[in-house]
Order: sequence, then structure tokens, then C-alpha cells
Amino acid sequence: MFTAALTVHESAVLVNLGRNRYTERVLFFPRRSLVSNSLKFDHVAIPLPPYITLKRFASFFKKLGFRNEWYRARVGNQETAMETFVMTRDGVKLALMAGIDGKNSAGERILSQVSEYFRRFGASPQHIALRCDDIEKEVERWLNAGVRFLTEDDKEQPQILRDRDSDGEVFQCFTYPLWGSMFFELKQIARKGQKLTHFEEFRESNVEDLWAALDRALKEGWLFNTNLWGETLNDRMPKPPPRMHFPKSVRTYIP
Ligand SMILES: [Fe+2]
Repeated sequence: MFTAALTVHESAVLVNLGRNRYTERVLFFPRRSLVSNSLKFDHVAIPLPPYITLKRFASFFKKLGFRNEWYRARVGNQETAMETFVMTRDGVKLALMAGIDGKNSAGERILSQVSEYFRRFGASPQHIALRCDDIEKEVERWLNAGVRFLTEDDKEQPQILRDRDSDGEVFQCFTYPLWGSMFFELKQIARKGQKLTHFEEFRESNVEDLWAALDRALKEGWLFNTNLWGETLNDRMPKPPPRMHFPKSVRTYIP
């Protein structure tokens, strides 16, 4: 097919010509593979109902043989937050989350982003985390395939979040949603003191940085209206920030 050799710009024009505002969007598939040997499954994060205590869900998973690896009663900002249990069994790791809703300065009720995910999609994965050995290489590979990241700077360069835990240092980077809901987390656990060479690092706690990035996208209204490549899913909803620079190496197929 001649379209296989088109650039992202050209393909986008053709796809746009062929659809009306109600048709489903065509997901661009990069010719370049995202698969790499270093990518391993790490965890799936699942929002649960805010009105039932998360402890009851955690004890249900304990009865299924999972053990509690990590717990935090509140992660978020001053307005809203979430409670999290990380449960593991046989290499399967689940991050169970429940929203903690709050109020803004005007006294209006604000839904936690986890409650918002649960309200829209139920108890389905919010993100899938993949562990890698070299997050810079991995992020670059995904970036060159056209993937957008939630924590981009104004030059559309992904920023890698950095935090410390008992294992050493944790680097994380979060993509746009695959298709309006679930997104990916790329994660590397590195030895203490390891520095990144050419991506900028955030120094604050990673979960709170992700919280802020998601919060911004929610408030701007486009979080559930984009795919992994930053394409708008519904023209009547707020659009994700436009991509100004396309990686030169990306080629796409039109199915
Ligand atoms: Fe995660």
C-alpha cells in the first residue's frame, strides 16, 4: 500500500478526509515496534468504589492469596486524593485505589480523579505499568513511535519522574490514554544515585506529580478525549494539546 510510506502529517490528512465527526478514530500504528526485551509487566492500577472502604477489597484479595506490599492512606493534593493498597501474588501486582473527594475554596464538591475514573469506566484498569532496564531508551523509543506523554514540557519532550524508595530510585513516565481511558506507565528501578543523561527529572514524589498531570488534563477536559498519539476522539469535546513536532522517523499505516 502506498499509504504505508506516508508521514504522520500526510496520513492524518487522509484519515481526516475519510471520517465524519461521529466516526470512530483510526488508531495510528507505528511501523516501528514498541516491543523490547527489557519490558516486563509490573502492575495494573484499578479504581474501586469510593463509598466502600478499600480495606474490604484488600481483605478480599488477601483471601485470594495476595499479600499487601504497600499502603498509603492519602496521596494527592489539598483538594482531592486517593487511598492505595498494592497487592501481589505470583508476580501479579495490583494497585487498588479509592478516590477521596474534596471541596474547593468556594465550598463546591470536587470528585477525586480516581472517583472520576470509577464513575466513567467502573473497576477497569486505569493504567498498566511496564518495568524496563533503561527508561530513557524506552521513552525515546515510544516518543519516536509518536506516543504522547502526560508529563511533557512545552517542547513536547517527556519528563521522567524520579523518586526514592527502599529499593533505590524509581523513574517513571506516563503516556496519554491508549483510547480515552487506560494509559501506560514506564518504570525503572535504578540503583541509588543513578542520574538520567538527557531527559529532565522531576524531584518531587512521583505519584503526586502524576496526580497533578492528570488533574490538569481533567480540568482542561481532554483526558478522556485523546488516544496514545494525542489524536482527538470527539470533535465536540476539548482537544488535547496539539502536537507541533512530529518525529521524523515515524511512518504510519492506515488500516
Ligand atoms: Fe502505577
